[in-house]
Amino acid sequence: MPAALLTEEVIARTAPLYERVRRVIPPVEWPAFANDIDAILRLKRERNAIVLAHNYQTPEIFHCVADVVGDSLALAREAMTAEADVIVLAGVHFMAETAKLLNPGKRVLIPDLEAGCSLAASITAADVRLLRERYPGAPVVAYVNTSAAVKAASDICCTSGNARRIVEALGAPRVIMIPDEYLARNVARETGVEIIAWAGHCEVHERFTAAEIRELRSRYPGITVLAHPECPPEVVAEADFAGSTAAMSDYVGRKKPPRVVLVTECSMSDNVAVHHPEIEFVRPCNLCPHMKRITLANIRRALETLRHEVTIDPAVAAGARRAVERMLEL
Ligand code: 13P
Ligand code: SF4
Repeated sequence: MPAALLTEEVIARTAPLYERVRRVIPPVEWPAFANDIDAILRLKRERNAIVLAHNYQTPEIFHCVADVVGDSLALAREAMTAEADVIVLAGVHFMAETAKLLNPGKRVLIPDLEAGCSLAASITAADVRLLRERYPGAPVVAYVNTSAAVKAASDICCTSGNARRIVEALGAPRVIMIPDEYLARNVARETGVEIIAWAGHCEVHERFTAAEIRELRSRYPGITVLAHPECPPEVVAEADFAGSTAAMSDYVGRKKPPRVVLVTECSMSDNVAVHHPEIEFVRPCNLCPHMKRITLANIRRALETLRHEVTIDPAVAAGARRAVERMLEL
């Protein structure tokens, strides 16, 4: 909505929110956000709704309208215990499906049905069944970045925050881990377990290279490099630390490196930088086109129209829920 239509009341109501993000959103951009933010806050009250936002959402969503923020694991946990009538998932489709699986009585909305994931799109349930036939007896660990049908065809889920623990807890000499080849290879190196991988990749993290990290180190002396485990193993090998988006954020908060690069999706640095003005963030920018489909405008529309509601095929719901719940129990 154009700035001219902003009322004095909206400006006053949203002023404290702008204070949170003024280091990462220039004043000239704020009027374009303020009306939607104000409307979303009102609609959340009217609908008894909450917004769960992934760490890759843009700062005006992450810091101004989200009730809960975090990595895939944290969002799944929060969804499970949420008491609101409506859950809006500011993230991608598999996250909304996971929320619905864990709290089936709630209305779960995704603001854009096309917000997918290259990993989730890389494998089908039929592929999982073929892998089982080829490697009989090997348990199947499905990354949460998969469809409900793929989860149902698997034994247990994992996220980047618990992949190592899940694989170790299975106690099997050989594990099928799908669909992220790089996460699987990174976990194999950490655990020593033989891992059968699938050739799926995250289209954001696969673009980082080891040469790029070496170049960053020579251009920014003393820089601390934190990488997401969806990056190729040779990139992870160049990093000081590898972990989920939440683990990277915690690392920055705990160790406060004076200069840091988060080798992951761009918005993550903006969101973490808001809390750490004293830290220099170097930002090679790889955007996730799926995460970026979520905007204030479509969150507002989702709350106004109660669309798009996420449903799960009853034929796979019970199996998929079991795989996610097994992960949370471990
Ligand atoms: P986490 O936030 O669980 O680390 O996952 C990253 C990711 O790519 C989600 O799409
Ligand atoms: Fe999928 Fe990668 Fe985007 Fe995450 S960042 S949603 S893994 S494509």
